[in-house]
Amino acid sequence: MEFEDGIITRVAGPVVEAKNMKGAEVYEVVYVGKEGLIGEIIGLHEDRATIQVYEETSGIGPGELVKRSGAPLSLILGPGLIGQIYDGIQRPLPAIMETAGDFISRGVSADPIDFDKKWYFVPVAEKGEKVLGGDIIGKVQEGPVVEHRIMIPPDISGELVEIVSEGEYTLKEAVARVKTSEGIKDIFMYQKWPVRHPRPVKKKLAPAEPLITGQRILDTFFPMAKGGTAAIPGGFGTGKTVTQHQLAKWADAEIVIYVGCGERGNEMTDVLREFPELVDPKTGKPLMNRTILIANTSNMPVAAREASVYTGITLAEYYRDMGYNVALMADSTSRWAEAMREISGRLEEMPGEEGYPAYLASKLAAFYERAGKAVLEGSEEKIASISVIGAVSPPGGDLSEPVTQNTLRIVKVFWALDTALKERRHFPSINWLRSYSLYLDAVRGWWQKEIGEDWFELRSKAMALLQKEAELQEIVQLVGPDALPPAEQATLEGARVIREDFLQQNAFHEIDTYCPPKKQYLMVKIMLEFYDLIMEAVRKGVDIAKIRKLKCKGDLSQMARVSNETYEREFADIGVKMRNEIRQLIKEVES
Ligand SMILES: Nc1ncnc2c1ncn2[C@@H]1O[C@H](COP(=O)(O)OP(=O)(O)OP(=O)(O)O)[C@@H](O)[C@H]1O
Ligand SMILES: [Mg+2]
Repeated sequence: MEFEDGIITRVAGPVVEAKNMKGAEVYEVVYVGKEGLIGEIIGLHEDRATIQVYEETSGIGPGELVKRSGAPLSLILGPGLIGQIYDGIQRPLPAIMETAGDFISRGVSADPIDFDKKWYFVPVAEKGEKVLGGDIIGKVQEGPVVEHRIMIPPDISGELVEIVSEGEYTLKEAVARVKTSEGIKDIFMYQKWPVRHPRPVKKKLAPAEPLITGQRILDTFFPMAKGGTAAIPGGFGTGKTVTQHQLAKWADAEIVIYVGCGERGNEMTDVLREFPELVDPKTGKPLMNRTILIANTSNMPVAAREASVYTGITLAEYYRDMGYNVALMADSTSRWAEAMREISGRLEEMPGEEGYPAYLASKLAAFYERAGKAVLEGSEEKIASISVIGAVSPPGGDLSEPVTQNTLRIVKVFWALDTALKERRHFPSINWLRSYSLYLDAVRGWWQKEIGEDWFELRSKAMALLQKEAELQEIVQLVGPDALPPAEQATLEGARVIREDFLQQNAFHEIDTYCPPKKQYLMVKIMLEFYDLIMEAVRKGVDIAKIRKLKCKGDLSQMARVSNETYEREFADIGVKMRNEIRQLIKEVES
């Protein structure tokens, strides 16, 4: 369709106004000025449109033309996405970045995926079948790890009147034809989907299995669920990025979407350099083999940053629709919120709290709502999930600011990073007294069935011990440790083992970086047994000084670094030695 061109009347940073735009629609993509900069209509008043431009607008002026595309901001979804690094509007970064540094040249368009590459298509449906949107009709091996499932797009259903035979095809060639009520439709190996519309599912389900991360404080104390939402707020340098990288590497999701909104210009360049070097522990190959990276630097236009979380979640939904469990990490959502604030300011909208637009809360909610475990569209019953983990970087670490507060109202898991812990070099610096997970009851069944009947009991007991420690420490601050009765001093000894040897975990240690669920369970179990034994010893009159010198404490502190293959046997030995040593002390006072 041909549209009349609009005419620019005003330019204010990333926001451009144009007249003669009658018939255009909000969220339609337009090409602005002589260079055809990509933009999106975000407001319409009669024939005047307000446009947010995804590229630097300097040099553009009134009188230049605005060309309409007739379509909303959409992604191309098909084989070739995995392993890519995109900007916020799905432009392949390597292609649009000039070789010198991270300067982005303007007006560049590049296909998000290669339309000329041949993919080996294997049909899994037959001519004559009735198909619904979401049905898988073929498979393509996308890189070494991912099986890409070619689906009927959500809005098409009917009779499969043609499907190609096994062989090599490009994205330009139709692989099937469907007879719908509106005529015959060609089916390609890719789909187009508008980023601001959630892809449909039949039904959302309540999450019920844990998203295992191999991080002890997360899995055992504040578990995330497959299909859940979590936030990691933390001040400068407290460990948001290390945690997100750990999750990307270790979370038991098949596909990882990583949205990086860098704080400083060069932080994203670090991500671009570091992320492709991450090794997937499951395959020994690059993590990029099952990852898509969306990258924004602070010197990229704010509008592209604003779009990047939608691009990320749409990619996540597409792979979910194939039946995969997808995990999306956004680091950090504060940069996204700041982009919203800047654009809103340019639009001269009425500012809300701290200058953020009044719709901040609803935008955050709409984003996290796209997470979830769901029954997928299609003829067969398929279930898959998207888990979303957002880092938040509150200025000065002040959690009362609007982005943190609004995020915490939505997400079900809160991992509170803590500057004081970080300063003590307690890693991960997640505060166990302030964090919480509302999935505890949901994942309890899984842990008790798969790992240990008494999982919840142990977890509660360990948590209570840590809380008791915090109370006792307040007293110690006032009167010193020696003023406490022996039983309370023993409580502190027991809590210290949990805190130092269980909660602390070194992301950079080859074994400690990932702790299997069973190992986490056995560690807590032995550590709590240690606590029970020393309490018994103190009650029976063993001197606290002797308890402080127990050799088994050294063994407990080594448990995290015991091989992930042989820990069951080695932990059994540690348990035997520990019991013997403490019982010996008890025997000595009893005789
Ligand atoms: N689990 C961990 N194990 C070991 N070291 C850690 C861990 N978490 C954080 N660190 C240390 O803390 C440093 C800062 O972490 P990170 O870069 O993740 O912080 P950040 O919150 O993302 O910072 P910024 O505010 O600059 O984005 C790391 O470089 C690392 O030395
Ligand atoms: Mg960071």
